Amino acid sequence: MRIAFLGKGGAGKTTTSSGFIQYLAKRFPFVVAVDADLNAHLKGALNLQGETKQLGLHFDEVTDYLQGERKDIGARPMIGTTPPAVGSNFITAKANDAFIEKYALKEGNIALLTVGTYQQEDVGGSCYHEKLKSLAGIFHHMLDTSEDLVVADTTAGTDNVATSLSFAYDINVFVLEPTEKSTQVFLDFEEIAPQFADRTFVVGNKVDGEEDAEYIKSRAGADKYLGSIPFSRNLKRFEQGEDEAILEFQKEQEATFDNILAMWTEKAAQRDWTTYLERLRKAFAWDCERWYNDYYKTDLIKDMDQTFTYEKALSEKGLAAKSPALV
Ligand SMILES: Nc1ncnc2c1ncn2[C@@H]1O[C@H](COP(=O)(O)OP(=O)(O)O)[C@@H](O)[C@H]1O
Ligand SMILES: [Mg+2]
Repeated sequence: MRIAFLGKGGAGKTTTSSGFIQYLAKRFPFVVAVDADLNAHLKGALNLQGETKQLGLHFDEVTDYLQGERKDIGARPMIGTTPPAVGSNFITAKANDAFIEKYALKEGNIALLTVGTYQQEDVGGSCYHEKLKSLAGIFHHMLDTSEDLVVADTTAGTDNVATSLSFAYDINVFVLEPTEKSTQVFLDFEEIAPQFADRTFVVGNKVDGEEDAEYIKSRAGADKYLGSIPFSRNLKRFEQGEDEAILEFQKEQEATFDNILAMWTEKAAQRDWTTYLERLRKAFAWDCERWYNDYYKTDLIKDMDQTFTYEKALSEKGLAAKSPALV
């Protein structure tokens, strides 16, 4: 199951998603963390050492892997929204998965996938959608079940909505500060993407008292509110070098994380692979017709496998929906 943390820059996406990843890592056997922000800070926030492969810079390598033995593509390139086919390679979000082994930074029971930061040569030349193609390909080839935990720290604002990543997560959690600007990002999302309203929730961050919580609820809706994380002296103390202060901060986050996990589990159980595939096929057709067929001077849609279903691919791998087992 997959969760995305969204919100305005500085609202606390990285703080909250890394805290949630650590919360899960204490309770479950394995967690996949995804740094989908091009200003990649998740590795530091999780205190992981070692090198990360920037997947956004290796789209061809990623698609070579995902393409596997599929026959329908021929010599044509894959794009981020190319739906899987019979013969595709998949990613299972498990510790021994070949893709995770190859591309994730693994430490303990956390594996981090990183999209990557802008390179010097990108300035002016490449937009971030270009980078997120790799991530889209990864999610659309992921056969995760409710046993698998995949947590993404995303890019600021509502840009996700414009890509096929908009439907890639079972639940979206907006991290909101008790300010007009911060809450507006959520309201904008609701307006642009009403089809995802039932899977989109908010948490208050840097909340200083009940008044702040009430403010966010009044803007976002009390029914959307999964809890408050206080403006924390303990986090400051941790950032000033007092290592053990993080434990105090974790306690301050815990009740909200319990609520997020409960709602996430509920929403993930409702995942509908058929609708997912329909949305993906639509996004693919849209991408091809608007841009990629012209760009590659070929028809990318013609003769593509229409027989594939996620349900079949899951059952072939013996993957059925199960509830996550506590360690
Ligand atoms: N609950 C909190 N209490 C105090 N400071 C916080 C809290 N959450 C985040 N911050 C601080 O706010 C800043 C931005 O947080 P960050 O998680 O990097 O935001 P984002 O990823 O949304 O850009 C950081 O300096 C962080 O330490
Ligand atoms: Mg961040």
